[in-house]
Amino acid sequence: MNMNMNMNDFIQDKNRISIQQEQEGKSKFPKNQWYVVGLSKELKDNLISRKVLNIPLIIFRNVEGKAVALEDRCCHRGMPLSSGTLENGQIRCGYHGLLYDGYGHCVEVPGQDRIPAKAKVKSYFLIEKQGIIWFWYSFDTEPNISDVPDYPYHEHPDYLYDGDVYHYQAPYQLIHDNLMDLSHLAYVHLKTIGGNAKIHMNAEMKVVQNEDQVIVKRHMFDSDPPPTYAMAYPFKSKIDRWQEIDFRVSHIRIWTGGIDAGSDSLENPDRNGFNMRGFHGITPETDETCHYFWTMATNPKQDRENIANVVIEQTRLTFDEDKIVIEDQFKNLKQFESTDMVGIHIDVGLVRARRMIESLI
Ligand code: FES
Ligand SMILES: [Fe+2]
Repeated sequence: MNMNMNMNDFIQDKNRISIQQEQEGKSKFPKNQWYVVGLSKELKDNLISRKVLNIPLIIFRNVEGKAVALEDRCCHRGMPLSSGTLENGQIRCGYHGLLYDGYGHCVEVPGQDRIPAKAKVKSYFLIEKQGIIWFWYSFDTEPNISDVPDYPYHEHPDYLYDGDVYHYQAPYQLIHDNLMDLSHLAYVHLKTIGGNAKIHMNAEMKVVQNEDQVIVKRHMFDSDPPPTYAMAYPFKSKIDRWQEIDFRVSHIRIWTGGIDAGSDSLENPDRNGFNMRGFHGITPETDETCHYFWTMATNPKQDRENIANVVIEQTRLTFDEDKIVIEDQFKNLKQFESTDMVGIHIDVGLVRARRMIESLI
């Protein structure tokens, strides 16, 4: 496990400006949460300019290689630091050359010996763990590092994974809605992980909820393996499929897969067969846009690299299809004044997820 940030780094940094000072008033998004702000694979020796939760950030690796995030605004004349350049883990503003370290302290003013005491920009809590960079969002509460979400499939020896980051012209909760209702596979994803519409719409579904999770389990028996499944696993004929969705406020974990029909119980947690373990970090960018950080992990027994690549590429095609649908949906919703929607049986999970978010805002 790579814990990228030591809490003392921040506590000992007396000049750090707290999030409380930078944001006043009520949040539009659930606070006191760890949100995904990036995937480790995105951040090498580059700068990432990314707005999350309405906060413009610049993300880079400091001199020790730790992921850090600063407010994307030079304290001199307000230039975006993201238009500057990285110099050995420090960022130089592209306008008049002020140089900042990973804590946001100005460490050099070109042509001037004295560095003004106020010459600093805001810094934020980041933790990098298991290939995911997490951002602590709170107005008044220090983060507890032991609460950073754990995602073991990114370091499980049987699993291979990869992923990507999509920018969405749609609010984050429309992605929640989409992932909490996997009946849409039968209509949107026929080329990859879809399947028989009747079996999907009539899937046996259980929804359970606790304080910070909504879990939806769907079982579909005796169905044809969809194209991705057939490419990745030597099923004999019909299969029993499962979809287990684990919703948390900032991200969703989805375990889907299939076994030869009747060969094991779908309640057996150690069942074999074909497995897809999806991680979905969904972080608001603004009120109407968001970032979607996804990975897919699978555990092929043979020809591991090739099969994992097929599954990941099929996942990419699938999520490209979702993006088209969700952005189209939002564009259309904006054309109408009414926000009325009529619920049907498949909406149970998404309604619970929406209620949970509502209770936190
Ligand atoms: S605006 Fe950044 S150095 Fe002047
Ligand atoms: Fe989908």
